[in-house]
Amino acid sequence: MKLYIETLGCAMNTRDSEHMISELQKKEGYELTDSPKEADLILINTCSVREKPERKLFSEIGQFAKLKKPNAKIGICGCTASHMGEQIIKKAPQVDFVLGARNVSKITEVIHKPKAVEVSIDYDDSAYVYDIARNTGVKALLNISIGCDKKCAYCIVPHTRGKEISIPLELLLNEARKLVDNGVKEIMLLGQNVNNYGVRFTSPHPEINFTQLLNQMAKIDGLERIRFTSPHPLHMNDEFLEEFASNPKVCKSIHIPLQSGSSKVLKAMRRGYTKEWYLNRIEKLKSLVPNVGISTDIIVGFPTEEDSDFQDTLDVLEQVRFDTLYSFVYSPRPHTESATWSKDLEVPQNVASQRLAILQNRHKEILKEDSQKELGKEHIVLIENHKQSQNEVFSEGRSDNGRLVRIENEFLSLGSMVRVKIIATNGGSLIGQSV
Ligand code: 5AD
Ligand code: SF4
Repeated sequence: MKLYIETLGCAMNTRDSEHMISELQKKEGYELTDSPKEADLILINTCSVREKPERKLFSEIGQFAKLKKPNAKIGICGCTASHMGEQIIKKAPQVDFVLGARNVSKITEVIHKPKAVEVSIDYDDSAYVYDIARNTGVKALLNISIGCDKKCAYCIVPHTRGKEISIPLELLLNEARKLVDNGVKEIMLLGQNVNNYGVRFTSPHPEINFTQLLNQMAKIDGLERIRFTSPHPLHMNDEFLEEFASNPKVCKSIHIPLQSGSSKVLKAMRRGYTKEWYLNRIEKLKSLVPNVGISTDIIVGFPTEEDSDFQDTLDVLEQVRFDTLYSFVYSPRPHTESATWSKDLEVPQNVASQRLAILQNRHKEILKEDSQKELGKEHIVLIENHKQSQNEVFSEGRSDNGRLVRIENEFLSLGSMVRVKIIATNGGSLIGQSV
């Protein structure tokens, strides 16, 4: 039996797909294929955070339905499955089952239940022990919590992934040890608000917070690097920043979603912090870790955003000089607060698109300027990928502070930690040689 799976959206969805793959391999004997034509089961693990990919879903279902084998099944999983539920089957009767983001552990049940719709956002997957995917490489993802308790005005996720539940510490440490035994060197801890870890467990559990979790994880022998995504700026207290700075296994790159640089817009978004708080946390972080790599998410064109608000966002960009920027035009989503607001508060599409272009162009310039400063510096790189062919030899990986470094003409072994000197730049990317 062959499984074809397409994964959209964030790292959480990637992890959910890994879970479904391992369940189907272990319990149902499936093997992965990259051809939907050959598959006996086609899964689309969907994202609903913006409207565009969601619109494309139904044309995709139509295409798969045309080319699939006659008895092959189609399952729609993930965030769009959560919030559209049985409407998906009504709109696309070719779909065999719908499995919400909070229900992935039920994958081996729903494949045997015609027209099953399992989308409850109260379902508790938090103590379910999945098998480890067989093709684990040097890096692995590990969920530390599911769901989200925040109420950001633009965001559909609380509606698709439900209330926040932390996964018990013992389970996490066991999973991490198993991963290390399988050759993993770097673990990425995942959660919608990772640094809110410990907020709620579904069975009795000693009190613990994210700082303590990092500390415990770092004690695992053989685990070289720990990363996490995403922390919320609101929960970045000094204790957390100090642990981030001083724990040698915690990589010095961090994703800190800004969303907007304007305190007025942040308030409308219900983010719970101001421009000043965000900049204060960055200042503290940079004072503790001068070479820290910072990435962020920014939304432009949120309702009520005026030009002066956008200038505040540009001002934060200038002050922080992010290494990586994920930026989006606001997209109204069902079940969110801002989607119910008056049309008068909306920002015209052309204005929002212009702002996005200005933001992205300035970010590219900053990246170029900052890459120049990397020349001659040395980084420890974990080799994650390499190639040796007649025309090309290279190895690549990430520095501790999250920069992608390509080492030309060297074939270094996967999983090795190599000291690399930066000898050239190519736009925002770095080229180095081992020293
Ligand atoms: N419109 C545009 N971008 C959004 N994001 C979340 N919701 C929306 C929306 N309605 C962005 C945020 C978030 C990232 C995953 O997607 O920046 O951090
Ligand atoms: Fe991930 Fe959010 Fe998309 Fe769901 S809606 S897949 S949580 S980005």
